[in-house]
Amino acid sequence: MICPVITKVSADRIIGSGNVGVSLDLGITVSKINVSGNIAHIRDQKIPISDLKNLKEKMCYAVEDNKVKQIAFFSDETNLYYKLLPTKDWPTITLSSTPMHRFTFISPKEDTELKIREILPAKGRVLDTCCGLGYTAIMSAEHADEVHTFERDENVLRIASYNPHSQELFSSKKIHLHRESISSAIARLSDSYFDCIIHDPPTFKYAPELYSSEFHRELFRVLKKGGVLYHYCPSPQRTKGRTMYPRLIRQLRNSGFRNAEFHESSSGIRAVK
Ligand SMILES: C[S@@+](CC[C@H](N)C(=O)[O-])C[C@H]1O[C@@H](n2cnc3c(N)ncnc32)[C@H](O)[C@@H]1O
Repeated sequence: MICPVITKVSADRIIGSGNVGVSLDLGITVSKINVSGNIAHIRDQKIPISDLKNLKEKMCYAVEDNKVKQIAFFSDETNLYYKLLPTKDWPTITLSSTPMHRFTFISPKEDTELKIREILPAKGRVLDTCCGLGYTAIMSAEHADEVHTFERDENVLRIASYNPHSQELFSSKKIHLHRESISSAIARLSDSYFDCIIHDPPTFKYAPELYSSEFHRELFRVLKKGGVLYHYCPSPQRTKGRTMYPRLIRQLRNSGFRNAEFHESSSGIRAVK
């Protein structure tokens, strides 16, 4: 079992009313918290009430070693600051303030549902190119037999290891987590192996190679005939009017895909081999 994860909202409930029901897993379940004197008993951890004061709203906290720790850190290697950011349902991860899911107008959970809807029925083998917090991998594993997901950044997986909503990524027998870059690993994947592909790259500046014609040709090669590709594409609002999807649609057509269409709802392109 992973350690309890709390937010300012749950901490304020513990401080305010003593023995209360509070979620220690970002909304999945509710646990009873006992407060005696100035100590809150959070599962087997003893936390001074003073440590629960002044938590930040836009932060998740792990309760471990009898301490309340931010689920956030800076990596010298990548020069990025990683943070698990609470939202109205599932948290998102930010890489130096850039969120990896939509969360302002729709939540990360809804964002994931809309992406998965594009490839339904996601039967057979699924390639999930960019793992992140594992939401697209976990949700496609509900329908598929086998999901292969790739993550090049260990720091992202370290954040995911604390996230209660990411746990199936590490426990599901259907999900194969590959800790490497898809841009090099794809060359080793067999032709026509996958029934569908979810390509959910970060914004262009973080991984331009994942928006290239060369990579699109590889996606086409590993997909079965009749298989469906969903390709996330930053929407016009997020790119301040510079629309990226017409170029991506052209590239996908040139790589052999047909019926390529941009869907505002999922902010991505659905195409068929
Ligand atoms: C938008 S997020 C993916 C969100 C994910 N689908 C989810 O459900 O949480 C993009 C992720 O791709 C990762 N990434 C970037 N380049 C990559 C590459 N070449 N291979 C694998 N992962 C990559 C980033 O580190 C980041 O975690």
